Amino acid sequence: MSIAIHAIPGAFAGEVSGIDLTQPIGRDDAAAIEAGMDRHAVLVFRDQRITDDQQRAFTRNFGTLEQSPGGHVAKAHERRLPLDMQDAGNLDQHQRVFARDDRRRMFNLGNRLWHSDSSYRAVPAKYSLLSGRIVAETGGHTQFADMRAAYEALDDAARSEIEDLVCEHSLLFSRGVLAFEVTEEERATFRPVRQRLVPTHPVTGRKSLFLSAHAGSIVGWPVPEARAFLRDLMEHATQPRFVYSHAWRPYDLVMWDNRCTMHRVTRYNETQPRDMRRTTVAGTEVTTHQKEPVAA
Ligand SMILES: [Fe+2]
Repeated sequence: MSIAIHAIPGAFAGEVSGIDLTQPIGRDDAAAIEAGMDRHAVLVFRDQRITDDQQRAFTRNFGTLEQSPGGHVAKAHERRLPLDMQDAGNLDQHQRVFARDDRRRMFNLGNRLWHSDSSYRAVPAKYSLLSGRIVAETGGHTQFADMRAAYEALDDAARSEIEDLVCEHSLLFSRGVLAFEVTEEERATFRPVRQRLVPTHPVTGRKSLFLSAHAGSIVGWPVPEARAFLRDLMEHATQPRFVYSHAWRPYDLVMWDNRCTMHRVTRYNETQPRDMRRTTVAGTEVTTHQKEPVAA
């Protein structure tokens, strides 16, 4: 069995075959997957019946596991998954579907907004790996937007206008869109961080748009003007020509590069269980070091 990566027809994403993620993988296979990520930014692995430990072990081939604190509202005794895994499903710690007004469910509704995972952290995430253990029968697709292509489709004037802009990202902004009410303690935890709007990928050197529902202001701009402009950019970047929509089959594992894509989940029947478990590769660098930010 040898690894192969093919572009999914009509999409920027790739599909990986010839690898079994229940087993440790070799250095050559890890390098082939990294190269595939640099090219496609989203990779799909079908039929991977992995355990949590196998998911963690595979994830560690690409860096350090990001820890959950600072990125959710579940209390310790309410968590279903350990702190180095993120829960993207709709189940509580007793494997029961969340009540409609459960605060954890309402917080998770933020996943319906286009975002990049952990863009609200000072050092944002590198990769996310999402394993579909129980998938929705209808809906519940994960859609990905290619932010390299979105950047490259801008004209020269737009590119030079945004080149040096720096945005502030926070869970307060994405949850504010949904009128989700945070506690004072959460407000302190979710303090905004700064991210370049146009980062350069550390491996490929390609520029992209670093947008996210977590982005709520632009340094040096009046807030309403920044919000309106970020909405314009969001609309541009999520046109169908930049989007791959993943329809889940049980035991798919989908891996994406948060540095150059956005994603969101589509609506699904939340009275049925959906068990989706994410591991995240922590990033290694801030986005604002690449060039000194210049206030507009
Ligand atoms: Fe996400």
